[in-house]
Amino acid sequence: MKRVFSGIQPTGDQHLGNYLGATRNWVEMQHHTEAVFCVVDLHAITIPQASGAVRDGSLRLSQMLMAVGLDPEQCIIFVQSHVREHTECAWLMECNVSFGELSRMTQFKDKSGRQEFISSGLFTYPALQAADIVLYDTDQVPVGADQRQHIEIARDIAERFNSRYGPTFTVPEAIVPKAGARVMDLQRPTDKMSKSLDSPKGTVNLLDEPKLIAKKIKSAVTDNDGAVRFDVAEKPGVSNLLSILGASTNRDPAALADEYTQYGSLKVDTADAVVALLEPIQARYRELEGDPAETARLLALGANKARTIAAATMDRARTNVGLLQA
Ligand code: TYM
Repeated sequence: MKRVFSGIQPTGDQHLGNYLGATRNWVEMQHHTEAVFCVVDLHAITIPQASGAVRDGSLRLSQMLMAVGLDPEQCIIFVQSHVREHTECAWLMECNVSFGELSRMTQFKDKSGRQEFISSGLFTYPALQAADIVLYDTDQVPVGADQRQHIEIARDIAERFNSRYGPTFTVPEAIVPKAGARVMDLQRPTDKMSKSLDSPKGTVNLLDEPKLIAKKIKSAVTDNDGAVRFDVAEKPGVSNLLSILGASTNRDPAALADEYTQYGSLKVDTADAVVALLEPIQARYRELEGDPAETARLLALGANKARTIAAATMDRARTNVGLLQA
C-alpha cells in the first residue's frame, strides 16, 4: 500500500480552499493508502502568533479534520510538535539544501514581503516540510497547487541525501486534484483564497453560517462581459465560481459553463452546492467541539503511531550520515 503524508497549518480559520484543494482528498485517500496527516504547529510559528493561538488552533484544526471525515482508525492524525523527530530531521534537510534553492521559493518571497521580522525559520520552512514528508517513507503528498514547489524541493533534498549518504529516504510525488487545486479569493479572483490575506468577504470559512456563505458567493466579483465561459486567464471570477461548483458537485467546470447563460443563476447554484457540502461538516464539528479531552486522547494515540515510524527513519538517517551512535 502506498504511504501518503500531508500537513496543514493551525493558523486562522480553515477555508474552502483548504478543503477542496487538500483535506477532502485526504478523506478519500485514507481508505486505500497508509495515510498520515499532521497539524503542523511548528510551521505556524515561523510567523509570530498571538499567545495561545497555536494551541487553540491545533485543537480546533484537529477537530475540523475529524469533522471533514478523517477517521483516526483509518489514518494517523497527530500534531507535529508531539513527534520530536520532525525538528531533528529538519536539521539534516537544512544541511542538504542550499541557500540559493531556499531563496527561490515563491512562498518565502510572498510571505517575507509581508513581515517586518523575517525569521530564519520562515526561510528554512521548506526543509522542515521536507523532513515531515521523508520521515514517513512517503510516496504521495496530496496538496493544493500552491504547495507544488515545496514538494519539488523535498524531492530534490531527498535525492541529494540519498546520493550523498546512500539510499535512506523515499522520494515523494505531489498529488494535486483536478478540481479545486487552486480556489481563488471571491473578491480578488487572481489571488488564491487564503487565511492570511485580509479579505474576509472573499474567503468562505468552513464554519461560516449558510446565510453568510450565500452572501459571499453572491457578491463574488465577476466581469462585465456577461458570458458564462471557463477561461481562467480572461474570466478569473466566473471561472472560479465554475471551479467551486464543479469541485463541490464532482462535475467538470468547462462542461458546467454550457448549462448557464447568466451569472446570477451560476452564483445561486454555487452557493447552494457549497452550503450543502459544508452543512454536515459543520454539524459534526459542533459535536466534536464539546469533547476536547477525547480529541486530545486521539491525538496522543496518533502521535505514538507516528513516532514509531519517524524514529525508525531517523535511526537509519543518523547511521547513514555517519553520526556516532549514542
Ligand atoms: P496550508 O496550511 O497553507 O494549506 C493546507 C492545504 O490546503 C491547500 N490550499 C489550497 N488549495 C486550493 N486552493 C486554495 N486557495 C488553497 N489554500 C490552501 C494547500 O495547498 C495545502 O495542501 N506548508 C504547508 C503545510 C505542510 C505540508 C507539509 C504539506 C507542512 N508540512 C508536508 C504537505 C506535506 C502549508 O502551509 O499548507
